[in-house]
Amino acid sequence: MQKEVLSKPYLLSADDLTVEDVNLIFDRVRYFEYHYSLGAKFNDLDGYTVALAFFEPSTRTRISFEIATQRLGGKPILFSSSTSSLTKGESLIDTLHTIEAMDVQIFVVRHSASGVPLLLQRNTNKIVINAGDGKHEHPTQALLDAYTIQKHFGYIKDLKVCIVGDILHSRVARSNIILLKKLGANVAFCGPGTLLPRHHSQWNVPIFRTIDEAIDWADVIMLLRLQNERMDSGLVPSLAEFSRLYGMSLERLSRKPELVVLHPGPVNYGIELQYEVPTFPTVLIQTQVTHGVFVRMALLSLLVKTYEFRAR
Ligand code: NCD
Repeated sequence: MQKEVLSKPYLLSADDLTVEDVNLIFDRVRYFEYHYSLGAKFNDLDGYTVALAFFEPSTRTRISFEIATQRLGGKPILFSSSTSSLTKGESLIDTLHTIEAMDVQIFVVRHSASGVPLLLQRNTNKIVINAGDGKHEHPTQALLDAYTIQKHFGYIKDLKVCIVGDILHSRVARSNIILLKKLGANVAFCGPGTLLPRHHSQWNVPIFRTIDEAIDWADVIMLLRLQNERMDSGLVPSLAEFSRLYGMSLERLSRKPELVVLHPGPVNYGIELQYEVPTFPTVLIQTQVTHGVFVRMALLSLLVKTYEFRAR
């Protein structure tokens, strides 16, 4: 019999997920996609309040968690650090306990410091989900990327996925490499030496120095933004040079029309991606966003089940 709960009642890292967990989540995604398209209503989060605690800017991740919560009959509350008592010196842990005292059971946390979701999880018995912490991890993005790949090809094992651009500062890259490798994909990096993780040999992945070599090798190219807010200056010689060596253009894509292109957003057009490229049918950036809501619905629903199962 298939198990109905996840191995952990929280999600801080892609490493918290087993292959069985991922399969369970993907089954649930398919269930929600199908029944939602028929107009079904869901009540998996009935009685649950979800705090969306975003200490860093976000469009896609915050809105998709908010919509996912609402579609499951839960109540999302938005917590904004700049208008909270954190500005009056209240600590993060005090803030957590204050919100907890109002009967909030799920915390979705984004923070510029790596490790904040873990710190909060260690100080609560409620559900904590990492929505991106510093340069560390962004596991729900990796889940929705993997789901998009799985749905497009019908499988993930043995596919070649090359992550291109600013890998050093990317939590998306880190979660993706963990999850994709777990699911049996071959992962490679492509970017200037200054934007590769310092100890990239520990990942044991092929490195490509130009996007043309990466395109020749890959089934999937995952583009990343230059994350200037986390970057010391001078890591790329010029944006034009970066774009020439690592940017995706229509011309490059036309060489291999079956190549799938992903990007977690936000896109900086004219740098890692030319304006016209998203019109190409194998560029799945909008599809990723759509999948993001269903993946977060599946995750929230399963985490609540897991939490309730453990509380019995
Ligand atoms: C990413 C993030 O915030 O980590 N975006 C996202 O969540 N979809 C990537 C980025 O900031 O470039």
